[in-house]
Amino acid sequence: MNADEAVRAISEQLQHALADLEKTKDEREFLKGELARARGDLDAEQKMVSDFQNRIEGLNPQIENLEKNVSIAEKTLDQKTRELSGFIAKNQEAEGEIAKLRNEIVNLAETRTSGRIWEQPLTPSAAAFVPLTERGVPIISIVNLKGGVGKTTITANLGAILGAHGKRVLLIDLDYQRSLTEYCNVNKDALHVNKRSLQHFLLKASGDPAYLLRCCEPVLNAPGCKIIGNTEIKDAKEPADSLEDTEMYLQAQWLTNRAGGDVRTLLRRALHSRAFYSQFDIVLLDCPPRLSAACINGLAASDFAIVPIELDSLAALSAPNLLRKMRKLKEAKVLEHIEVLGVLANSVKFHNGQLIRVHRDMIAEMADKRIDEAWGRKVTVFETKIKQDKVSFFEALQRNRFVALLSPEFGQTFTKLMDEVLGRMRK
Ligand SMILES: Nc1ncnc2c1ncn2[C@@H]1O[C@H](COP(=O)(O)OP(=O)(O)OP(=O)(O)O)[C@@H](O)[C@H]1O
Ligand SMILES: [Mg+2]
Repeated sequence: MNADEAVRAISEQLQHALADLEKTKDEREFLKGELARARGDLDAEQKMVSDFQNRIEGLNPQIENLEKNVSIAEKTLDQKTRELSGFIAKNQEAEGEIAKLRNEIVNLAETRTSGRIWEQPLTPSAAAFVPLTERGVPIISIVNLKGGVGKTTITANLGAILGAHGKRVLLIDLDYQRSLTEYCNVNKDALHVNKRSLQHFLLKASGDPAYLLRCCEPVLNAPGCKIIGNTEIKDAKEPADSLEDTEMYLQAQWLTNRAGGDVRTLLRRALHSRAFYSQFDIVLLDCPPRLSAACINGLAASDFAIVPIELDSLAALSAPNLLRKMRKLKEAKVLEHIEVLGVLANSVKFHNGQLIRVHRDMIAEMADKRIDEAWGRKVTVFETKIKQDKVSFFEALQRNRFVALLSPEFGQTFTKLMDEVLGRMRK
Protein backbone atom coordinates (compact mmCIF):
# COMPACT_ATOMS: atom_id res chain seq x y z
CA MET A 1 0.00 0.00 0.00
CA ASN A 2 1.11 3.47 -0.78
CA ALA A 3 1.17 6.32 1.57
CA ASP A 4 -2.09 7.80 0.40
CA GLU A 5 -3.86 4.56 0.80
CA ALA A 6 -2.36 4.17 4.26
CA VAL A 7 -3.45 7.68 5.23
CA ARG A 8 -6.91 6.96 3.92
CA ALA A 9 -7.03 3.75 5.82
CA ILE A 10 -5.88 5.39 8.98
CA SER A 11 -8.26 8.27 8.45
CA GLU A 12 -11.13 5.76 7.99
CA GLN A 13 -10.07 3.97 11.12
CA LEU A 14 -9.87 7.26 12.90
CA GLN A 15 -13.38 8.17 11.75
CA HIS A 16 -14.68 4.84 12.99
CA ALA A 17 -12.93 5.38 16.26
CA LEU A 18 -14.43 8.84 16.48
CA ALA A 19 -17.88 7.45 15.68
CA ASP A 20 -17.43 4.77 18.36
CA LEU A 21 -16.29 7.41 20.77
CA GLU A 22 -19.41 9.46 20.01
CA LYS A 23 -21.53 6.37 20.57
CA THR A 24 -19.76 5.69 23.81
CA LYS A 25 -20.36 9.28 24.88
CA ASP A 26 -24.08 8.92 24.13
CA GLU A 27 -24.20 5.68 26.06
CA ARG A 28 -22.44 7.32 28.96
CA GLU A 29 -24.94 10.15 28.87
CA PHE A 30 -27.76 7.64 28.71
CA LEU A 31 -26.33 5.68 31.61
CA LYS A 32 -25.82 8.91 33.57
CA GLY A 33 -29.53 9.68 33.01
CA GLU A 34 -30.47 6.14 34.06
CA LEU A 35 -28.27 6.47 37.14
CA ALA A 36 -29.89 9.78 38.03
CA ARG A 37 -33.40 8.26 37.63
CA ALA A 38 -32.43 5.24 39.71
CA ARG A 39 -31.11 7.58 42.41
CA GLY A 40 -34.35 9.51 42.30
CA ASP A 41 -36.34 6.27 42.68
CA LEU A 42 -34.06 5.15 45.51
CA ASP A 43 -34.52 8.50 47.27
CA ALA A 44 -38.29 8.24 46.90
CA GLU A 45 -38.27 4.73 48.28
CA GLN A 46 -36.01 5.72 51.13
CA LYS A 47 -38.45 8.51 51.92
CA MET A 48 -41.34 6.09 51.84
CA VAL A 49 -39.43 3.76 54.18
CA SER A 50 -38.66 6.59 56.54
CA ASP A 51 -42.32 7.71 56.35
CA PHE A 52 -43.38 4.19 57.22
CA GLN A 53 -40.89 4.10 60.05
CA ASN A 54 -42.27 7.39 61.34
CA ARG A 55 -45.85 6.13 61.12
CA ILE A 56 -44.89 2.86 62.81
CA GLU A 57 -43.25 4.82 65.59
CA GLY A 58 -46.42 6.93 65.82
CA LEU A 59 -48.51 3.72 66.12
CA ASN A 60 -46.38 2.17 68.85
CA PRO A 61 -47.97 4.03 71.79
CA GLN A 62 -51.44 3.11 70.46
CA ILE A 63 -50.35 -0.51 70.17
CA GLU A 64 -49.03 -0.40 73.73
CA ASN A 65 -52.35 1.09 74.85
CA LEU A 66 -54.28 -1.58 73.02
CA GLU A 67 -52.09 -4.28 74.59
CA LYS A 68 -52.79 -2.79 78.02
CA ASN A 69 -56.53 -2.73 77.27
CA VAL A 70 -56.42 -6.30 76.02
CA SER A 71 -54.71 -7.44 79.23
CA ILE A 72 -57.29 -5.54 81.33
CA ALA A 73 -60.07 -7.06 79.25
CA GLU A 74 -58.56 -10.51 79.74
CA LYS A 75 -58.45 -10.01 83.51
CA THR A 76 -62.04 -8.73 83.53
CA LEU A 77 -63.07 -11.70 81.43
CA ASP A 78 -61.41 -14.06 83.91
CA GLN A 79 -63.20 -12.39 86.80
CA LYS A 80 -66.55 -12.45 85.00
CA THR A 81 -66.02 -16.11 84.12
CA ARG A 82 -65.37 -16.86 87.79
CA GLU A 83 -68.44 -14.81 88.79
CA LEU A 84 -70.51 -16.59 86.18
CA SER A 85 -69.52 -20.02 87.46
CA GLY A 86 -70.41 -18.74 90.96
CA PHE A 87 -73.80 -17.65 89.66
CA ILE A 88 -74.29 -20.96 87.90
CA ALA A 89 -73.53 -22.84 91.15
CA LYS A 90 -75.89 -20.54 93.09
CA ASN A 91 -78.54 -20.96 90.44
CA GLN A 92 -78.26 -24.73 90.71
CA GLU A 93 -78.56 -24.44 94.49
CA ALA A 94 -81.61 -22.19 94.10
CA GLU A 95 -83.16 -24.63 91.65
CA GLY A 96 -82.67 -27.38 94.25
CA GLU A 97 -84.33 -25.18 96.91
CA ILE A 98 -87.20 -24.37 94.54
CA ALA A 99 -87.73 -28.07 93.85
CA LYS A 100 -87.74 -28.75 97.63
CA LEU A 101 -90.22 -25.91 98.25
CA ARG A 102 -92.42 -27.19 95.40
CA ASN A 103 -92.52 -30.58 97.09
CA GLU A 104 -93.35 -28.98 100.42
CA ILE A 105 -96.13 -26.94 98.81
CA VAL A 106 -97.56 -30.07 97.20
CA ASN A 107 -97.38 -31.86 100.57
CA LEU A 108 -99.01 -28.92 102.32
CA ALA A 109 -101.74 -28.71 99.70
CA GLU A 110 -102.39 -32.43 100.09
CA THR A 111 -102.43 -32.06 103.87
CA ARG A 112 -104.84 -29.16 103.65
CA THR A 113 -107.21 -30.70 101.18
CA SER A 114 -107.34 -33.98 103.04
CA GLY A 115 -107.99 -32.12 106.32
CA ARG A 116 -104.94 -33.64 107.98
CA ILE A 117 -103.28 -30.38 108.87
CA TRP A 118 -103.41 -31.06 112.63
CA GLU A 119 -102.43 -34.72 112.44
CA GLN A 120 -98.69 -34.14 112.35
CA PRO A 121 -96.94 -35.64 115.39
CA LEU A 122 -96.54 -33.28 118.33
CA THR A 123 -93.27 -31.37 118.13
CA PRO A 124 -90.76 -31.17 121.00
CA SER A 125 -92.11 -27.70 121.82
CA ALA A 126 -95.62 -29.10 122.55
CA ALA A 127 -96.89 -28.80 126.11
CA ALA A 128 -97.13 -32.11 127.98
CA PHE A 129 -100.56 -33.50 128.92
CA VAL A 130 -100.75 -33.54 132.72
CA PRO A 131 -102.96 -36.48 133.80
CA LEU A 132 -106.34 -35.54 135.28
CA THR A 133 -105.48 -37.47 138.46
CA GLU A 134 -102.73 -34.91 139.06
CA ARG A 135 -104.75 -31.85 138.05
CA GLY A 136 -108.15 -32.70 139.46
CA VAL A 137 -109.92 -30.17 137.19
CA PRO A 138 -111.66 -31.99 134.32
CA ILE A 139 -111.68 -30.25 130.96
CA ILE A 140 -114.60 -31.14 128.67
CA SER A 141 -115.01 -30.19 125.01
CA ILE A 142 -118.57 -29.89 123.75
CA VAL A 143 -117.90 -30.69 120.12
CA ASN A 144 -119.48 -31.59 116.80
CA LEU A 145 -118.34 -30.47 113.36
CA LYS A 146 -121.98 -30.06 112.37
CA GLY A 147 -123.32 -26.56 113.02
CA GLY A 148 -126.40 -25.69 115.02
CA VAL A 149 -126.72 -28.92 117.01
CA GLY A 150 -126.75 -27.12 120.37
CA LYS A 151 -123.07 -27.06 121.40
CA THR A 152 -123.20 -23.50 122.71
CA THR A 153 -126.60 -23.92 124.35
CA ILE A 154 -125.44 -27.07 126.15
CA THR A 155 -122.10 -25.56 127.21
CA ALA A 156 -123.83 -22.52 128.66
CA ASN A 157 -126.61 -24.39 130.47
CA LEU A 158 -124.46 -27.25 131.74
CA GLY A 159 -122.06 -24.60 133.05
CA ALA A 160 -124.88 -22.63 134.66
CA ILE A 161 -126.30 -25.70 136.43
CA LEU A 162 -122.84 -26.78 137.62
CA GLY A 163 -122.32 -23.24 138.95
CA ALA A 164 -125.71 -23.36 140.67
CA HIS A 165 -124.55 -26.56 142.42
CA GLY A 166 -121.51 -24.83 143.86
CA LYS A 167 -118.90 -25.71 141.25
CA ARG A 168 -116.41 -23.10 140.08
CA VAL A 169 -116.89 -23.30 136.34
CA LEU A 170 -114.81 -21.89 133.53
CA LEU A 171 -116.42 -21.60 130.10
CA ILE A 172 -114.27 -20.90 127.05
CA ASP A 173 -115.67 -19.70 123.73
CA LEU A 174 -113.54 -21.31 121.01
CA ASP A 175 -115.81 -20.24 118.16
CA TYR A 176 -115.13 -16.98 116.33
CA GLN A 177 -118.89 -16.65 115.81
CA ARG A 178 -118.69 -15.94 119.58
CA SER A 179 -122.29 -17.00 120.40
CA LEU A 180 -121.24 -18.04 123.93
CA THR A 181 -119.54 -14.69 124.57
CA GLU A 182 -122.74 -12.93 123.45
CA TYR A 183 -124.81 -15.29 125.57
CA CYS A 184 -122.80 -14.57 128.72
CA ASN A 185 -123.30 -10.83 128.44
CA VAL A 186 -119.79 -9.62 129.23
CA ASN A 187 -118.34 -6.20 128.45
CA LYS A 188 -116.81 -7.16 125.12
CA ASP A 189 -115.29 -3.77 124.32
CA ALA A 190 -113.45 -3.61 127.64
CA LEU A 191 -112.16 -7.17 127.21
CA HIS A 192 -110.98 -6.35 123.71
CA VAL A 193 -109.30 -3.05 124.53
CA ASN A 194 -107.50 -4.65 127.48
CA LYS A 195 -106.46 -7.59 125.29
CA ARG A 196 -108.18 -10.06 127.59
CA SER A 197 -109.84 -12.15 124.89
CA LEU A 198 -108.99 -15.69 123.89
CA GLN A 199 -107.30 -14.59 120.68
CA HIS A 200 -104.96 -12.25 122.56
CA PHE A 201 -103.89 -15.16 124.73
CA LEU A 202 -103.37 -17.44 121.69
CA LEU A 203 -101.43 -14.79 119.83
CA LYS A 204 -99.33 -13.19 122.52
CA ALA A 205 -98.98 -15.36 125.58
CA SER A 206 -97.16 -18.53 124.39
CA GLY A 207 -99.45 -20.50 126.72
CA ASP A 208 -98.79 -18.36 129.82
CA PRO A 209 -101.39 -19.42 132.47
CA ALA A 210 -101.24 -16.05 134.23
CA TYR A 211 -102.30 -14.34 130.99
CA LEU A 212 -105.20 -16.78 130.54
CA LEU A 213 -106.33 -16.23 134.14
CA ARG A 214 -106.46 -12.49 133.47
CA CYS A 215 -108.87 -13.20 130.58
CA CYS A 216 -111.48 -14.80 132.89
CA GLU A 217 -114.61 -12.70 133.36
CA PRO A 218 -117.63 -13.45 135.63
CA VAL A 219 -120.81 -14.47 133.78
CA LEU A 220 -123.59 -12.06 134.67
CA ASN A 221 -126.53 -14.40 135.19
CA ALA A 222 -124.77 -17.61 136.15
CA PRO A 223 -123.29 -17.61 139.67
CA GLY A 224 -120.05 -19.56 139.96
CA CYS A 225 -119.32 -19.28 136.23
CA LYS A 226 -116.56 -17.39 134.51
CA ILE A 227 -115.95 -17.09 130.81
CA ILE A 228 -113.01 -16.54 128.52
CA GLY A 229 -114.62 -14.92 125.52
CA ASN A 230 -113.46 -13.87 122.13
CA THR A 231 -114.22 -10.41 120.82
CA GLU A 232 -113.92 -8.13 117.86
CA ILE A 233 -114.26 -4.40 117.42
CA LYS A 234 -115.40 -3.68 113.92
CA ASP A 235 -113.60 -0.35 113.46
CA ALA A 236 -110.59 -1.28 115.60
CA LYS A 237 -107.38 0.64 114.87
CA GLU A 238 -105.38 -2.51 115.28
CA PRO A 239 -106.20 -4.84 112.37
CA ALA A 240 -106.12 -8.64 112.36
CA ASP A 241 -107.22 -8.69 115.96
CA SER A 242 -110.14 -11.13 115.96
CA LEU A 243 -110.06 -14.84 116.83
CA GLU A 244 -110.65 -15.59 113.14
CA ASP A 245 -107.57 -13.55 112.11
CA THR A 246 -105.50 -15.08 114.89
CA GLU A 247 -106.48 -18.59 113.85
CA MET A 248 -105.47 -17.86 110.26
CA TYR A 249 -102.13 -16.57 111.51
CA LEU A 250 -101.57 -19.63 113.74
CA GLN A 251 -102.52 -21.97 110.91
CA ALA A 252 -100.16 -20.23 108.50
CA GLN A 253 -97.40 -20.37 111.10
CA TRP A 254 -98.06 -24.07 111.60
CA LEU A 255 -98.00 -24.76 107.86
CA THR A 256 -94.87 -22.81 107.10
CA ASN A 257 -92.71 -23.23 110.19
CA ARG A 258 -93.38 -26.21 112.44
CA ALA A 259 -90.10 -25.58 114.24
CA GLY A 260 -91.53 -22.19 115.32
CA GLY A 261 -93.55 -23.84 118.12
CA ASP A 262 -96.49 -26.24 118.38
CA VAL A 263 -99.56 -24.01 118.04
CA ARG A 264 -101.91 -26.86 119.05
CA THR A 265 -101.02 -26.97 122.73
CA LEU A 266 -101.16 -23.31 123.81
CA LEU A 267 -104.38 -23.84 125.79
CA ARG A 268 -103.08 -27.11 127.19
CA ARG A 269 -99.95 -25.40 128.51
CA ALA A 270 -102.06 -22.86 130.41
CA LEU A 271 -105.00 -25.05 131.53
CA HIS A 272 -102.70 -27.86 132.67
CA SER A 273 -100.55 -25.61 134.79
CA ARG A 274 -100.71 -25.46 138.57
CA ALA A 275 -102.09 -21.90 138.46
CA PHE A 276 -105.42 -23.33 137.26
CA TYR A 277 -105.73 -26.25 139.70
CA SER A 278 -106.91 -24.12 142.60
CA GLN A 279 -109.05 -21.68 140.62
CA PHE A 280 -111.74 -23.90 139.05
CA ASP A 281 -113.52 -27.21 139.54
CA ILE A 282 -114.41 -27.85 135.93
CA VAL A 283 -113.72 -26.34 132.48
CA LEU A 284 -116.21 -26.51 129.58
CA LEU A 285 -115.07 -25.67 126.05
CA ASP A 286 -117.60 -24.54 123.44
CA CYS A 287 -116.06 -25.80 120.18
CA PRO A 288 -116.79 -24.37 116.73
CA PRO A 289 -118.26 -26.55 113.97
CA ARG A 290 -114.84 -26.81 112.30
CA LEU A 291 -111.39 -28.11 113.19
CA SER A 292 -109.90 -24.65 113.56
CA ALA A 293 -106.73 -23.72 115.45
CA ALA A 294 -108.79 -22.85 118.54
CA CYS A 295 -110.75 -26.10 118.26
CA ILE A 296 -107.64 -28.26 118.09
CA ASN A 297 -106.26 -26.32 121.07
CA GLY A 298 -109.44 -27.10 123.01
CA LEU A 299 -109.44 -30.78 122.09
CA ALA A 300 -105.71 -31.19 122.81
CA ALA A 301 -106.29 -29.79 126.31
CA SER A 302 -109.41 -31.88 126.99
CA ASP A 303 -109.86 -34.98 129.10
CA PHE A 304 -113.35 -35.60 127.74
CA ALA A 305 -115.65 -34.82 124.84
CA ILE A 306 -119.43 -34.57 124.79
CA VAL A 307 -120.93 -34.83 121.30
CA PRO A 308 -124.34 -33.15 120.95
CA ILE A 309 -126.45 -34.25 118.01
CA GLU A 310 -129.80 -33.35 116.60
CA LEU A 311 -131.88 -36.21 115.37
CA ASP A 312 -132.50 -35.20 111.79
CA SER A 313 -131.44 -37.33 108.86
CA LEU A 314 -127.97 -35.80 108.56
CA ALA A 315 -127.27 -35.66 112.27
CA ALA A 316 -126.93 -39.40 112.43
CA LEU A 317 -123.84 -38.97 110.25
CA SER A 318 -122.37 -36.03 112.14
CA ALA A 319 -121.26 -37.94 115.25
CA PRO A 320 -119.50 -40.78 113.38
CA ASN A 321 -117.89 -38.22 111.09
CA LEU A 322 -116.49 -36.26 114.05
CA LEU A 323 -115.44 -39.41 115.90
CA ARG A 324 -113.54 -40.71 112.87
CA LYS A 325 -111.59 -37.43 112.65
CA MET A 326 -110.92 -37.41 116.39
CA ARG A 327 -109.79 -41.02 116.22
CA LYS A 328 -107.18 -40.15 113.58
CA LEU A 329 -105.95 -37.33 115.81
CA LYS A 330 -105.86 -39.71 118.76
CA GLU A 331 -103.90 -42.27 116.75
CA ALA A 332 -101.49 -39.50 115.72
CA LYS A 333 -101.06 -38.89 119.50
CA VAL A 334 -102.28 -35.30 119.20
CA LEU A 335 -105.39 -36.15 121.26
CA GLU A 336 -103.81 -39.08 122.99
CA HIS A 337 -105.78 -38.81 126.24
CA ILE A 338 -109.23 -37.64 125.27
CA GLU A 339 -112.21 -39.88 126.10
CA VAL A 340 -115.69 -39.57 124.64
CA LEU A 341 -118.11 -39.21 127.57
CA GLY A 342 -121.08 -39.78 125.29
CA VAL A 343 -123.32 -38.60 122.50
CA LEU A 344 -126.02 -36.22 123.70
CA ALA A 345 -129.31 -36.07 121.84
CA ASN A 346 -130.61 -32.50 121.68
CA SER A 347 -133.86 -31.04 120.37
CA VAL A 348 -135.65 -34.34 120.72
CA LYS A 349 -139.43 -34.70 120.69
CA PHE A 350 -141.51 -36.49 123.28
CA HIS A 351 -145.03 -37.84 123.02
CA ASN A 352 -146.84 -38.84 126.19
CA GLY A 353 -143.56 -38.64 128.10
CA GLN A 354 -141.88 -41.00 125.59
CA LEU A 355 -139.31 -40.21 122.94
CA ILE A 356 -141.06 -40.27 119.58
CA ARG A 357 -140.49 -43.46 117.66
CA VAL A 358 -138.37 -42.07 114.83
CA HIS A 359 -135.94 -40.54 117.35
CA ARG A 360 -135.84 -43.77 119.34
CA ASP A 361 -134.99 -45.72 116.19
CA MET A 362 -132.31 -43.26 115.15
CA ILE A 363 -130.62 -43.43 118.54
CA ALA A 364 -130.83 -47.21 118.57
CA GLU A 365 -129.30 -47.47 115.12
CA MET A 366 -126.48 -45.12 115.99
CA ALA A 367 -125.79 -46.72 119.35
CA ASP A 368 -125.89 -50.07 117.67
CA LYS A 369 -122.56 -49.79 115.95
CA ARG A 370 -121.91 -46.65 113.92
CA ILE A 371 -120.39 -44.53 116.64
CA ASP A 372 -118.39 -47.41 118.13
CA GLU A 373 -116.93 -48.23 114.74
CA ALA A 374 -116.02 -44.60 114.12
CA TRP A 375 -114.28 -44.10 117.48
CA GLY A 376 -112.79 -47.57 117.66
CA ARG A 377 -114.23 -48.30 121.10
CA LYS A 378 -117.57 -48.23 122.89
CA VAL A 379 -119.44 -44.92 122.82
CA THR A 380 -122.79 -44.60 124.56
CA VAL A 381 -125.64 -42.15 124.19
CA PHE A 382 -126.49 -40.15 127.33
CA GLU A 383 -129.64 -41.25 129.12
CA THR A 384 -130.55 -37.59 129.39
CA LYS A 385 -132.12 -36.14 126.26
CA ILE A 386 -132.81 -32.45 125.80
CA LYS A 387 -136.30 -31.66 124.66
CA GLN A 388 -136.98 -29.38 121.73
CA ASP A 389 -138.58 -26.19 123.02
CA LYS A 390 -137.97 -23.29 120.69
CA VAL A 391 -139.93 -20.78 122.79
CA SER A 392 -138.12 -21.44 126.06
CA PHE A 393 -134.65 -21.40 124.49
CA PHE A 394 -135.44 -18.33 122.40
CA GLU A 395 -136.79 -16.41 125.40
CA ALA A 396 -133.80 -17.30 127.53
CA LEU A 397 -131.46 -16.20 124.74
CA GLN A 398 -133.28 -12.90 124.32
CA ARG A 399 -132.86 -12.12 128.01
CA ASN A 400 -129.26 -13.35 128.25
CA ARG A 401 -130.48 -15.87 130.75
CA PHE A 402 -129.94 -19.59 131.10
CA VAL A 403 -132.90 -21.86 130.47
CA ALA A 404 -131.48 -24.32 133.00
CA LEU A 405 -131.83 -21.65 135.71
CA LEU A 406 -135.04 -20.13 134.38
CA SER A 407 -137.28 -23.11 133.73
CA PRO A 408 -137.85 -25.79 136.39
CA GLU A 409 -138.31 -28.39 133.67
CA PHE A 410 -134.99 -27.61 131.99
CA GLY A 411 -133.43 -27.18 135.45
CA GLN A 412 -134.26 -30.85 136.00
CA THR A 413 -133.02 -31.91 132.58
CA PHE A 414 -129.67 -30.17 133.01
CA THR A 415 -129.29 -31.39 136.60
CA LYS A 416 -129.81 -34.92 135.33
CA LEU A 417 -127.27 -34.27 132.58
CA MET A 418 -124.81 -32.84 135.12
CA ASP A 419 -125.16 -35.92 137.35
CA GLU A 420 -124.68 -38.19 134.38
CA VAL A 421 -121.59 -36.25 133.21
CA LEU A 422 -120.03 -36.27 136.69
CA GLY A 423 -120.87 -39.96 137.07
CA ARG A 424 -119.36 -40.90 133.71
CA MET A 425 -116.19 -38.94 134.47
CA ARG A 426 -115.70 -40.86 137.70
CA LYS A 427 -115.80 -44.24 135.88
N1 LIG B 1 -133.36 -28.12 122.71
C1 LIG B 1 -133.53 -27.04 121.95
N2 LIG B 1 -134.77 -26.67 121.62
C2 LIG B 1 -134.98 -25.59 120.84
N3 LIG B 1 -134.02 -24.81 120.35
C3 LIG B 1 -132.73 -25.13 120.65
C4 LIG B 1 -132.44 -26.27 121.46
N4 LIG B 1 -131.10 -26.35 121.57
C5 LIG B 1 -130.58 -25.32 120.88
N5 LIG B 1 -131.56 -24.59 120.31
C6 LIG B 1 -131.42 -23.43 119.45
O1 LIG B 1 -130.76 -23.84 118.26
C7 LIG B 1 -129.91 -22.82 117.79
C8 LIG B 1 -128.50 -23.39 117.62
O2 LIG B 1 -128.01 -23.74 118.88
P1 LIG B 1 -126.49 -23.51 119.26
O3 LIG B 1 -126.06 -22.16 118.90
O4 LIG B 1 -126.34 -23.92 120.68
O5 LIG B 1 -125.83 -24.59 118.29
P2 LIG B 1 -124.27 -24.76 118.00
O6 LIG B 1 -124.06 -26.21 117.77
O7 LIG B 1 -123.47 -24.12 119.04
O8 LIG B 1 -124.14 -23.97 116.64
P3 LIG B 1 -122.77 -23.56 115.91
O9 LIG B 1 -122.28 -24.84 115.31
O10 LIG B 1 -123.18 -22.56 114.91
O11 LIG B 1 -121.86 -23.06 116.99
C9 LIG B 1 -129.99 -21.70 118.82
O12 LIG B 1 -130.89 -20.74 118.35
C10 LIG B 1 -130.53 -22.36 120.06
O13 LIG B 1 -131.30 -21.48 120.86
MG1 LIG C 1 -121.95 -22.68 118.88
